[in-house]
Amino acid sequence: MSVKSYIESNKDRFLEELKELLRIPSVSADNQYKGDVLRAAEKVKDFLLQAGADKAQLYPTPGHPIVYGEQLIDPALPTVLVYGHYDVQPADPLNLWDSPPFEPVIKDGKIFARGASDDKGQMFMHIKALETLNREGKLPCNLKFLIEGEEEVGSNNLEQFLKDQKALLKADIILVSDTGILSNENPSITTGLRGLSYLEIEVTGPSRDLHSGMYGGAVANPIQILAQMITSLKDENNHITIPGFYDNVQEASAEERQRMSEAPFDLEAYKASLKLKEVAGEKGYSTLERVSIRPSLDVNGIWGGYTGEGAKTVLPSKAFAKLSMRLVPNQSSEKITQLFTDHFKRIAPASVEVIVKPHHGGEPALTSLTSDGYKAAEKAFSTVWNKRPIPMREGGSIPIVSLFKKELGLDTVLLGFGLHSDAIHSPNENYHLFNFFMGIETICEFHKQYVALKK
Ligand code: BES
Ligand code: MN
Ligand code: MN
Repeated sequence: MSVKSYIESNKDRFLEELKELLRIPSVSADNQYKGDVLRAAEKVKDFLLQAGADKAQLYPTPGHPIVYGEQLIDPALPTVLVYGHYDVQPADPLNLWDSPPFEPVIKDGKIFARGASDDKGQMFMHIKALETLNREGKLPCNLKFLIEGEEEVGSNNLEQFLKDQKALLKADIILVSDTGILSNENPSITTGLRGLSYLEIEVTGPSRDLHSGMYGGAVANPIQILAQMITSLKDENNHITIPGFYDNVQEASAEERQRMSEAPFDLEAYKASLKLKEVAGEKGYSTLERVSIRPSLDVNGIWGGYTGEGAKTVLPSKAFAKLSMRLVPNQSSEKITQLFTDHFKRIAPASVEVIVKPHHGGEPALTSLTSDGYKAAEKAFSTVWNKRPIPMREGGSIPIVSLFKKELGLDTVLLGFGLHSDAIHSPNENYHLFNFFMGIETICEFHKQYVALKK
């Protein structure tokens, strides 16, 4: 049998198994799900063993466990280390889901569930690729699997694991399916990810909540001050105003910008899919550029005062916000967090007190188009999809990728198969079955091509 026909004749079982994994609410951010996160880790381990791995085990961490598995066939052959995550984002708001987030259903050629695309569905393709290659007697290289349970909360314990387990994780390349492609008609390979600085802000005005009639007009309102301060972080061209923010931004070359402008991106369809009349962003850059080669700043949440039913005439004591900045090479998460904090405190009027608390962060990453890993990925796509993939940078972040380079000296290939319509982190997250099965085949082909290049 061929790889393709093995996948074809086992596709129903593959989907049933994926559903088992999707039924476990492994929400890493919420401690109430700690037991479920552990159950998901156990399940991943079991699936690895069932797929033929010689070894698979859980490594406990101060947070959620890391699953490690391997199948080593010959020390003379290259070793590919697959990374993925079995944790998922919270499913809220629940009322916006058409079917319950942890009761996977297949509809219109897609599987709907939290984690269907990010990243259980994509990670699971690698386990099924392992099974396929094993059953077909075609495993061309050594495979290692590092599947974590804390990606969605910043991968805080994985860095230490990389430092402690250099021998265990020895490999030639890292392979990750946790990103997307432009479209099924125009497959792409992700060549860059943005970094991240995430912060929480607390603004305090008066020492207690006040009557807005007795004090309104005479005492600064921290919510309004916070809103003004946030607004001032961008100018009329949507340029970020924090001094030094752009200092280390590596400008994309004219050639890269030219190639991006030729990418088959349909702005009208993009707007229609989000029900937007107009897009918005930094002047002088296209939509694709704004979410890939340019840094950005967004408020993720803002709250304070009275938001319950009816009215309460209050001048609140405190206001809060959560804010994130996406970073590009060669910005540093730590430096940007510091620049933000200094600037935000500097612009605060004397009528309020400002606290800025850093959360997690991560550095941007770039893949070289001339690396063996990229070339193997390109060949795999060309073979399986019959189309030469377009190199594309993406806007999301996978903080561990830059640490793979720093701690293990390894390059990462981002061989993701998600689509924008997958709605990751949103209600009704889904993954196209077409992409799931094509992904398994493309991964099998990647291993083959990578070994051929390394010979
Ligand atoms: N898989 C995503 C990252 C991603 C999404 C990359 C789309 C490229 C395209 C990952 O699970 C994720 O959500 N990462 C977080 C960062 C983390 C520190 C919480 C993100 O980008 O917000
Ligand atoms: Mn992910
Ligand atoms: Mn995610």
